[in-house]
Order: sequence, then structure tokens, then C-alpha cells
Amino acid sequence: MILKLLFVLISLSFISCSDWYQPEQVHLSFGNNVSEVVVTWSTKNNTKESIVKYGIGTLSLSAKGVSKIFIDGGRKQNFQYIHRVTLRNLKPNNVYVYRCGSKFGWSSRFWFKSISTENNWSPHLAIYGDMGLVNAHALPSLKKETHEGLYDAILHIGDFAYDMDSNNGEVGDSFMRSIEPIAAHVPYMTCPGNHEAAYNFSHYRNRFSMPSGQESYWYSFDIGPLHIISISTEVYYFVHYGIKSVVFQYEWLEHDLVKANLPENRKKRPWIIVTGHRPMYCSTTDGDDCTHHETRTRVGLAFSHMFGLEKLLYDYGVDLEIWAHEHAYQRLWPIYNYTVYNGSYEAPYTNPRAPIHFITGSAGCDELIDYFNKTRPAWSAFESRDYGYTRLKAYNSTHLYLEQISADKEGEIIDSFWIIKDSHGAYPNSEMNFL
Ligand SMILES: *[C@@H]1O[C@H](CO)[C@@H](O)[C@H](O)[C@H]1NC(C)=O
Ligand SMILES: *[C@@H]1O[C@H](CO)[C@@H](O)[C@H](O)[C@H]1NC(C)=O
Ligand SMILES: *[C@@H]1O[C@H](CO)[C@@H](O)[C@H](O)[C@H]1NC(C)=O
Ligand SMILES: *[C@@H]1O[C@H](CO)[C@@H](O)[C@H](O)[C@H]1NC(C)=O
Ligand SMILES: *[C@@H]1O[C@H](CO)[C@@H](O)[C@H](O)[C@H]1NC(C)=O
Ligand SMILES: *[C@@H]1O[C@H](CO)[C@@H](O)[C@H](O)[C@H]1NC(C)=O
Ligand SMILES: *[C@@H]1O[C@H](CO)[C@@H](O)[C@H](O)[C@H]1NC(C)=O
Ligand SMILES: [Fe+2]
Repeated sequence: MILKLLFVLISLSFISCSDWYQPEQVHLSFGNNVSEVVVTWSTKNNTKESIVKYGIGTLSLSAKGVSKIFIDGGRKQNFQYIHRVTLRNLKPNNVYVYRCGSKFGWSSRFWFKSISTENNWSPHLAIYGDMGLVNAHALPSLKKETHEGLYDAILHIGDFAYDMDSNNGEVGDSFMRSIEPIAAHVPYMTCPGNHEAAYNFSHYRNRFSMPSGQESYWYSFDIGPLHIISISTEVYYFVHYGIKSVVFQYEWLEHDLVKANLPENRKKRPWIIVTGHRPMYCSTTDGDDCTHHETRTRVGLAFSHMFGLEKLLYDYGVDLEIWAHEHAYQRLWPIYNYTVYNGSYEAPYTNPRAPIHFITGSAGCDELIDYFNKTRPAWSAFESRDYGYTRLKAYNSTHLYLEQISADKEGEIIDSFWIIKDSHGAYPNSEMNFL
């Protein structure tokens, strides 16, 4: 009896001790390019080593990385160690298996599919913003489809967990556990939203591993025929954390767009897509910036009207701009400066004469869904208050396909559209049509 009790006590202390070293919140992202995958995970205590065992079919390879302590800014000063290991030179189009951890404990075995750095294939993405720990309507279908191997990457366009810093960061931990079934299998690419602002965005910067490294919020990457640029719209709003971020990002963005438009690059990656949290246009009624006429991201900072992004993105021939923040789905006709520039009359998205915008902020969170203005503006093509998410398939240099999935209607496709472009580059009315 006593022996049994002792055994129970020992095993209990063993469990609680190994809990301190157990990898959790495992998730993936792309490294310097899509032939590199970064595995990120947390342990409560310092394991002094960060290892990923991986390989095609078997765990025959091993890669080492580093960990860094992350202390939440709340009263309890909760801490955890966040580990990052980069898997390099992955052979494209293979299913890799992996587990991560240290001699003190290992994660369960996960898998992911490696992809090609070439441009002549058709990546398939899932895209959404504003997904919380609770009420995450999109998550069940995303889990199912991820495990069916449907997606090459997932883009979460800001606002996580609601909020990652809540309850001394424990909401962030639970959220990261809740997305592990998708994010441990498919690179989970992010941008910051307003809900990440606490403690100078420290939860965002520490928990995710984006290609720019931890100190900046913007980056770009190439996948198939797409050049995807992720920006922080929040630098325009949380200016007290450092207004110079607006300038740094703008300069980086212009440089990135110039590079993407070099003929040899634009030929290989003709589609330039910009993702950011707060939209430039919306007709929801929650009183956000975009419900008014001039948003800072569109026209620039108050008073100075400098560093507005709409003209920059238009001048460099950005094809598609994807936003979230409004808790709804809204698709726009091709638009610049509140004017619609359709392509041919029957098919507005065939050779559109301005960028196409849409908002996909309906993945589900405790703030529920937003309402639309009863008067639909002339630039608004489609509006939906269903919970859901977007799928994007880049067929080739001329054809891009998008569809909106309703989580309320068992995965029904409630909107779909093709963008067809015979050529890419500056728009006809732009001053930049030397590009
Ligand atoms: C991907 O990035 C790595 C590291 O920067 C580099 O060695 C490799 O050549 C790159 N691959 C391609 C296809 O660009
Ligand atoms: C966590 O690490 C610290 C410092 O290395 C150590 O003092 C402590 O005992 C560890 N806690 C557990 C539960 O392993
Ligand atoms: C916030 O973090 C940025 C780095 O992302 C840093 O440059 C800035 O100084 C910080 N601001 C404050 C007020 O701590
Ligand atoms: C709805 O749109 C009209 C302009 O069409 C505007 O005057 C009104 O303020 C908007 N209502 C709300 C609640 O945003
Ligand atoms: C946008 O349109 C307004 C008039 O509605 C005009 O005053 C402004 O100069 C235009 N901005 C750009 C960048 O063309
Ligand atoms: C753009 O095309 C749509 C769909 O055909 C149409 O409803 C809308 O009126 C057009 N807008 C303009 C300004 O041509
Ligand atoms: C691009 O993909 C579309 C849709 O599958 C197809 O109709 C079209 O022929 C393709 N174009 C080229 C050049 O392969
Ligand atoms: Fe938001």
C-alpha cells in the first residue's frame, strides 16, 4: 500500500517535472525562402538545447537551433522558453516527419509537405484574420482540410487569440495550442493586428518566427508565381511605440516593390499580393477608421499626409490587397482613390485597371461578426456576415482563383472569383507606367 502510494507520488512528481520540459505550441513558418521551414515551440523551463529530428519517412536527420526566454508583461510575469530550429535544403514535394524537443522530452510526431522554390506550380493557400481562442468557427474545417493536405501555407492576417497577452499570457498559450493541429503541419504566416499591441507587440514578436526575424513586422516571400508582402498596418496607429517604424516600413516596402518589379523577377512572380490587418476601405458600421473616408494606411499619417500606401501599391502594380480587422467578408471592385476601375465591362477582374481588395476577418472570435451599412457603396462587390475563411489558388501567371468558405453553411462556397491578367505591372493611369 505504502509502496503503491510512493509510486504514485513519484510518478506524479515525474509528470509535473517533465511538463516543464515538454514541447508544446508547435508551429511552422517559412525561412529565408520556401525551401526552409522554421519549427517554433515552447517549453516552460530551459532545456538548454533545441533539436528537431526529421526526415522523409524516418527521423534520420537532426537540426539544432536556439531558445530564448519570453516573459509576459503581466502581473505574474509568466515565462516560457521559445525554441526555433530552421530545417534547410528541404527536398521539394516530399512529406517530412518531425518531432522537436530536447533530451528532457519530445513532442509527438508531426508531418509537413515541403514545397518547391520554382515559380511554375500552383500553390493553394488558406487566408483569414481575427481568429480567437474562443468562437473560432473556421478552425474545425481548417483542421480537416490541412490533414487532407489541401494547403501549402496558411496566412493569418492579424488579431490572434483575443488576446495573446490576456490572463497573463495564458490565453496566448492556449490559442497557440489550439492552432497546433494546423500550424504544426503547414507554414503559418502572420502579420500583426491591433490585438497584438500590448507590451509593444511582444507576444507577436516572440511567438512567431517570420522571415524578417523578430525585430520587424514586415517581410515578403515567394511561393509559386506569387510574391507575397506582409505589412504592419499597426505602425500607423500605435505611433507611441516609435513613429519611425512607419518610415522604415515604407522605405522597405518601396525597395521590395522595386525589386519585385525588376523584369526578371516580375516575369517569374507576376502576382504581387499585399497582406495587412486594417483595410483601406470597408462599409461595416463598427466605427473603425475604414468606415470613415480617409484611413491612415491609405492616405498617410494625420496632418502630414505622408507615407500613405494606396498610391505606392498602385504605382508598383500590386494585383491584390488582402485585409482583415472588420469581422466580415467584403470583396471590392478594382479600386483606386475611391474610384472603380473595372477591366472589361462584363468581367471587372479581367485586366482590372486598379488593385483588387478584399477583407477576410470572419474566422471567428468573441467579438462576433460586424454589420454592414444598409447602403452598399458602388465599390463594394460582395458582402457576407457568415463566419469563414478564404482559399486562394494561383493557377499560373494569368489566372488566380479565390473562394470564400462559409463555416456557418458547412463549408459552402458563398463567393468565388477569378482574376485574369494578360500582363502585370503599373496600371494604365499610373505615373509609373515605365515599369
Ligand atoms: C534559400 O535560402 C538559403 C539560405 O539563405 C540559400 O542558401 C538557398 O540558395 C536559397 N534557395 C533558393 C532557391 O533561393
Ligand atoms: C527550472 O529551471 C530553474 C533554473 O534552471 C531551476 O532552478 C528549476 O528547478 C527548474 N524547474 C523545474 C520544475 O524543473
Ligand atoms: C517597441 O519595439 C520596437 C522594436 O520593434 C522598438 O524599436 C521601440 O523602441 C519600442 N518602443 C518602446 C516605446 O519601447
Ligand atoms: C452608412 O453610409 C452612409 C453613406 O452612404 C453614411 O452617411 C452613414 O454614416 C453610414 N452609417 C454608418 C452607421 O456607418
Ligand atoms: C484622390 O481624389 C481626390 C478627390 O476626390 C483628390 O483630391 C486627390 O488628389 C486624389 N488623390 C490622388 C493620390 O490621386
Ligand atoms: C464594375 O463592374 C460591376 C460588375 O459588372 C458593375 O456592377 C459596376 O457597376 C462596375 N463599375 C463601374 C464603375 O464600371
Ligand atoms: C492558366 O490556368 C488557367 C486555369 O486553369 C487555364 O485556363 C489557362 O489555360 C492557364 N494558362 C496557361 C498559360 O497555362
Ligand atoms: Fe483588428
